[in-house]
This record gives sequence, structure tokens and C-alpha cells, in this order.
Amino acid sequence: MDNMKNYRLHEERKMNDSLPSPSRKMNALDSGLKYNSRKEDMNGVEEGVEFLPTMNAKKVEKRGPKRWVVVTAGLIVFVLLSLIVGLLVWHLKYRRAPVQKVYNGHLVVTNFDFIDAYENSSSPEFYMLSKKVKQTIEEIYQTNPHIGPYHKETVITAFSEGSVIAYYWSEFVVPAYKAEALDNAMADKQSLIQTVTYRSRNPILKIDSVVAFPADPSIIESSRDNSCNFALHAKEGELTSFTTQGFPNSPYPNNAHCTWVLRADANSIISLTFKTFDVEQCSDKSDFVKVYNSLSPMEPHALVKLCGRYPPSYNLTFLSSQNVMLVTLVTNAEGRNPGFKAEFFQLPKTKICGGTLQGESGTFTTPYYPAHYPPNMDCVWDIEVPSTKNVKVRFNLFYVLELGIPMNSCTKDYVEISNTKYCGERPQFVVASNNNKIRVRFHSDQSYTDTGFSAEFLSYDSSDPCPGKFTCNTGRCINKEMRCDGWADCTDASDERSCNCTKDQFRCNNGWCKPRFWLCDAVDDCGDNSDELQCKCPDKSFKCSKGKCILETQKCDGQDDCGDGSDEGDCGKGKSVPCEDYTYKCRNSLCVSKTNPECDGEKDCTDNSDEENCNCGTRSYSKKSRIVGGLNSEVGEWPWQVSLHVEGHGHVCGASLISNKWLLSAAHCFQDEPRIRYSDSSLWTAFLGLHDQNDPDNEKVQKRRIKRIISNTMFNDYTYDYDIAVLELQDPVEFTNTVGPICLPDATHDFPAGKAIWVTGWGATSEGGAGAKILQKAEIRVINQTMCNTLLDNQMTPRMMCVGVLTGGIDACQGDSGGPLVSVESNNRMFLAGVVSWGDGCARRNKPGAYTRVSVLRDWIKQNTGI
Ligand code: ARG
Repeated sequence: MDNMKNYRLHEERKMNDSLPSPSRKMNALDSGLKYNSRKEDMNGVEEGVEFLPTMNAKKVEKRGPKRWVVVTAGLIVFVLLSLIVGLLVWHLKYRRAPVQKVYNGHLVVTNFDFIDAYENSSSPEFYMLSKKVKQTIEEIYQTNPHIGPYHKETVITAFSEGSVIAYYWSEFVVPAYKAEALDNAMADKQSLIQTVTYRSRNPILKIDSVVAFPADPSIIESSRDNSCNFALHAKEGELTSFTTQGFPNSPYPNNAHCTWVLRADANSIISLTFKTFDVEQCSDKSDFVKVYNSLSPMEPHALVKLCGRYPPSYNLTFLSSQNVMLVTLVTNAEGRNPGFKAEFFQLPKTKICGGTLQGESGTFTTPYYPAHYPPNMDCVWDIEVPSTKNVKVRFNLFYVLELGIPMNSCTKDYVEISNTKYCGERPQFVVASNNNKIRVRFHSDQSYTDTGFSAEFLSYDSSDPCPGKFTCNTGRCINKEMRCDGWADCTDASDERSCNCTKDQFRCNNGWCKPRFWLCDAVDDCGDNSDELQCKCPDKSFKCSKGKCILETQKCDGQDDCGDGSDEGDCGKGKSVPCEDYTYKCRNSLCVSKTNPECDGEKDCTDNSDEENCNCGTRSYSKKSRIVGGLNSEVGEWPWQVSLHVEGHGHVCGASLISNKWLLSAAHCFQDEPRIRYSDSSLWTAFLGLHDQNDPDNEKVQKRRIKRIISNTMFNDYTYDYDIAVLELQDPVEFTNTVGPICLPDATHDFPAGKAIWVTGWGATSEGGAGAKILQKAEIRVINQTMCNTLLDNQMTPRMMCVGVLTGGIDACQGDSGGPLVSVESNNRMFLAGVVSWGDGCARRNKPGAYTRVSVLRDWIKQNTGI
């Protein structure tokens, strides 16, 4: 019986083998023809031989065969031709080169117990069992006509506990048109198991749960190479670490497929953390790392796919649901990065989530939060507050995201409260119950996990859910002052509905009240643009950046009709125009008419000088941490940020790195005082790559002495005009993930009013308060110069710019001076728009901060540093 099958298998193979070469294709055609020429047709063909070349009716008539012969012959020719065409189509469409298919799978051997020797693939025990398992698998395949004939090879790769789980891969070579049938047969676990039980009445192995999934086609090629396969077993109470080859001194290999089999003792689970992660930037075909909750790289058991660079603050901890894990690294032909360093340890497998929570309030999280929760979890929290109160649950952080799963369906991982499912990435939200009980469920399926949630439950009075506060329609409580302040603080903006506007506010068409200052600032503050409607220039006219209206025809006429050059700014790229104060001057002295052409990725100057020296203003970590408290920066987020320390005083001022040996700061930082000669460069030390003031010895920090300080001689210590200085470093710094220069804007660079801009520093976190330990960041907006002058008592000079948030609360402060104000321009490149200079207090309402305008001092910087 088996022979029969083998024979057929052979035949199929031959057919397949014959397909790719053109000469053999002919054979296949021939055979098709012969097969289809039945006996009676043969006669026709013989007769037809004479007729075949002659489609000429006259000739046919001359020879005088009977009419029916002609008709029959014609018919036969027609039939034959159709057959050939049909065969050709069939051949081209369905019989093309056979495809190779690989499946990864596992099965459970129920009548064996796991022994340690099974962990070692070169032990005799491993060999014996794998041979049996392999035989069984082959037997299963042979009984299935959609599988058996195409099976090439099966390899058992590993075993793990439970009774014994065997992991394997199987390779098939199948004609394209039968591939789907093979897929279906392999996906049908029911029939696979049935065949085992049915066929082997007295099986040596009792098999259960046979599953197999098609392997990722991109990794099939390289999956046989054993050069970088590793197996590690967790040691009790110890961390085990591993890295990519050569880490950190040399990059990982190209075209590699590396695997790390991680194991723990029975009844344990694994916690794996990537301490550093730096792999090729993500794209469709980029290098990647994948972690599986299995020892077989099966997609439905994948926990995460990682690529790109992660800042060290990013939480890359993953948990398994049983005692094994598989880490794979797949690399392509190009792009080699340092790779990763990871560590893992084992934890007892216990019930780790859910339960009854009682009291007035309390907190709970997904298991192992903020690590990625394990797969296959089901947690139920039954929350109960005193019977006179109601209960609500506030999710402060919520990350239950799986790519491709819509927020409204939550078909994979989710949180469920009274029949409503929540998933995805959500800002803080509250779910309230109208009695004293609430039940929260959490479910994770077998693949792709996330960091989960951190939540608290609170009891409240149904008559006054937010004592002393405003209650959003979402149930959240916000400070009373936030009501009707022009900013949506409730996620549904319910705090800005039905407001009475004060005299400092105007009413948007949508009913919101906004500070009057935001009228006509070219930014849609209302959300319906109604704050920008009354300030439009009349039809057929152009509005200059400073608000003036000019005739449309005056735009791009080569004359500065606006007075600020804004009508001559964007007049067709790449065009050389007469040079003016507001046109960008290329190195070859030609000028271009384009706003901010520097380093925007487009060649605007004929000599390309606008795209030279553009190794600046980028950060090296491609990922952003999602869990950050307040406005803490991430490591490497602002690589140009410098902390300037004074001997014995610690951090005093900020600065920005503009080349490998020059810093830019504020002149007022280096003003002598009776006790300290701040102008003395030997007093200062620059810390680059610093994140935490408490950790100045971190390996990422580069410490430099200052060689000289050049303050602008025009600096006025009364008005703070020309508040700029450059500092030369004793020794150049090395550009790394955490140290890199910021781009300097051209003198013509425009930072328009309304633009969002970032300010960073370790300055005071409140007026009169103490400095921050972790580098802080804040997003503020450029404010119209005229408006600013009225707000800041006419103290603004053209060397200053006003940036802030007029409602107050966000600002630079003491200790931020000299530090960077950066703007994200095209291509995500950052430019230094300003230097922290002065302010009227910190973060007060209607008192934006004043910054040194870097663009107007661009030439001074060049003269003094050559940069
Ligand atoms: N002059 C201050 C310093 O030395 C910076 C003040 C910035 N203030 C402000 N509100 N933006 O650190």
C-alpha cells in the first residue's frame, strides 16, 4: 500500500521537476497532446495531415475530398488547437515552479514524562524520542493525501515540559496549485489527531494537540544555519544575560537567522528584558527581533516584533506564560547595528492577578506592570467600596494595543467592564458604576502583549462625584480653574462647554472662550478657525506674516512689499532671485526664494550648499517611551542639551552643542558677580549626554572643560539685549546616541507666530522652586512680537523672541538660562530657534518667556566660531 503511494509521489515529483526548464515544458505539452488524441481522432489526424497546411478552400476542392471529410478535419483541427491553448493556459497558470513550504509546529506527547536530558539536543535520549516523534509525524502526514505526497523533511528542534511538548519544523515541496490544499490540511488539527488515533491502534506515542503554522517566508532561507543558535537555562535566583554576536564592539552579522532558546525550571515562567536595543531602523524588509512564547517560531505565539533603536528608559520586559521562550534575530544583506543585550530570569508560576478589592480606594495593575503582561491571562477584579458610596475606576495609563485591531472591536486583548470592552492606547479615562460594586476583567490572548494598565478605584458620593472639583462628562475630576479657560482638559472637552467668556476672552463660533491674544495669530485656536476669520485680508490680497494686507499681484514681484519679506518668501523653489535681506544666500552667492531651505532634504541652491553640513538636529533613538512621568525627557531625546556646572555650585546654566567643540549659551550666565567670577572659563565644566543631575558619572556622559568663553560685546545686562555667548571646549566631544549637535538656523529662517517649539533644561520646576534632577521638556508657542511687546512692557528688542503659553503654567525658569529652544522643521530636523534668556517670574499668566533670537545673531556666531 505504501509503495503505491510512493510511486504516485514519485510521478508527481517528476512532473514537477520537469516544469522549470523550457525544453521539458515541450515534453509536457507533447504528452498532453498524445493523451488527448483518442483513437478515432487518430484517423482524423491522419487524414487531416493533408488538410492541415491547407486552409485554402480552392485547393481542397480541386483534390475533391468529400465535404464531410473537410468539415470533420476542420473540426478536429479546431479541437486540437483549443486543447493546446487550454493546456498552455493550464500549464502557465497552475503548473509553474513548485513552491517550498515550511511549517513550524509543536505537539504534545502525553504518555512520556519530561527528563532533563531532553533539553540537550545531542543526548541519546533526545535522539531516541525525536526519532519516534518524527516517525509519528511522518505517519500522520502519509495518511493525508494533501500532505503526504509533498513532505520532504521534518526536524524535531526541542522538547519542553508538559507532559513532553515537542517542537518541530516540516518542509514541503508542493505544486503551486496544491499549496492551498496543503495549508488547509495542515491547519486542520482535528483531522491530524484523528488520523493518529485512528491509524496506530497501539501507538508507542500518544499524541495530542498537533499544531503547525506556515513559517515566515523571509526566514525560510536561512533557517538551517546553525552558526548562531544558543540554548540557555535560567539559574535559580540569578539573572542570565546574552547579547547579539560582537555586542557592543562590533555589529551583528548580515543575512543571519539567530535563535536563543530560553528555558526555566518546570512550573516557572520567564521574564526577559532587553537592556539595550539597537537594530536597523524599521521598514518592511529591515532586520528584526521576534520573541515567541514557545520554542517554535509560530506567528500565533509571537509576543513582540522589535526593530529600530529604543532609548534605555523604554520598558522592554516581556513575560512568558510557561517555562520556555524563543528569541530570534533575522537580518538582511544591508545595515548592521550594534544589536541587543538582554537578560532573563525565572519566576514561580502562580496566580498573579485579579481578586477582591475592598475599601475606600486602592490601586491595581495588569500582571507585572509596567512589564509587558504575559499572554493567555484572564484576571477578574471584584471591587467593592462601602455600601453608602459609589465606585469608579480610573485608568491612569492604558496600553492594551495590538497592531491591526480596531479600538471598537477589541477582538484580542481587552479590559471589560459591564459588557463594554476597552483596548488600544487610551488617555486617562474613568468608568463609574452607580452602586458600590464594579467588576473589571482583563483578558490577553496567546500572541502580542503590551504594557497593560495602571488603575485606581475610588469611592464617591453620587450627589457630588468630584468634591471641590469640576466633573467632566467622562467622570474625570479636574481643577475648577480649568473650567472655561479655553483649553480642553476633559478628553471630551466638556469643561469648555456652556461657558460665559470673561472680558479677556472672546467667544469662538463653537462656543469656546479663548484668550483674546490668540485672535488673528494665524493659528486655529478655536478648532473651527473662527478666531482667524475676522482678520483675513480682503479678496485678491495677500496677508503678510506680520498681518499687513498687500495686493495679490505684489506677491513674488521681487519687492519686499510686506516689509518683512514674507511676500517674497515662497516664490517657486530652486529659482534664483535677486538677493535681499529675506532671501537665503547660497555659498555661490546666488539667492533662492524659499522659506527655510536649509537641510530640508531638497536641493534648492544650484551648488547644493543649502543641504551641506546637515549632520545636526536629529536624535538617534527612533522610539519614544510611552510611560513617562510628567515632563521628564527621555535619555537621548535632546542630545544637544548641555549642563554647565560651576565648581562647587553644580548646575548653573544650560547650553546647546553646535559642533564637536563649540557650545552656544546666554551671555548673562557669564556675568561676574562680587563673589564669583563667572566669566572665568576655568570655573566651568560642560556635561554632555547628561540626563539625571544625580548621575553625572553615567557612561553616556561626556565631561569637558571650557577653553574660552566669548560673550557678545553688545550684551546689555540691564535690557538683556544680545544675550548670547559661545564657549569653546578644551577637547572635542564624540557624537553618540546621547550627544549630537543642533542645527543653527540661517539668518533668514522664520519661526512663525503660533508655531509649537520645545524648551528643555534642569531649571526650577516652579517660580522660586528647586531645579529638576531629570532633564525637563515643555512645549510652548511662538508669540507675535507686537503682542509680546505689549505683554512684557515694551522690553522686547529685535534680538529677542517671545515664546510661551499665555494661560500660564508652562515656561522656562531659573536655571534654564542659556539652554535651547528648538523647533521641529521639515524632515523632523530640529533647529535652534532661541536661547533661554529672561522672564517676568515663571509661567505666569500672560507673561511668556523671552529668548535670544538665534537667527538674527547667526552671523555673529559664524564670525566667532567659524560654524
Ligand atoms: N534668567 C533665567 C536663568 O538665569 C532664565 C529665566 C527664564 N525665565 C522664564 N520665565 N522664561 O536661568
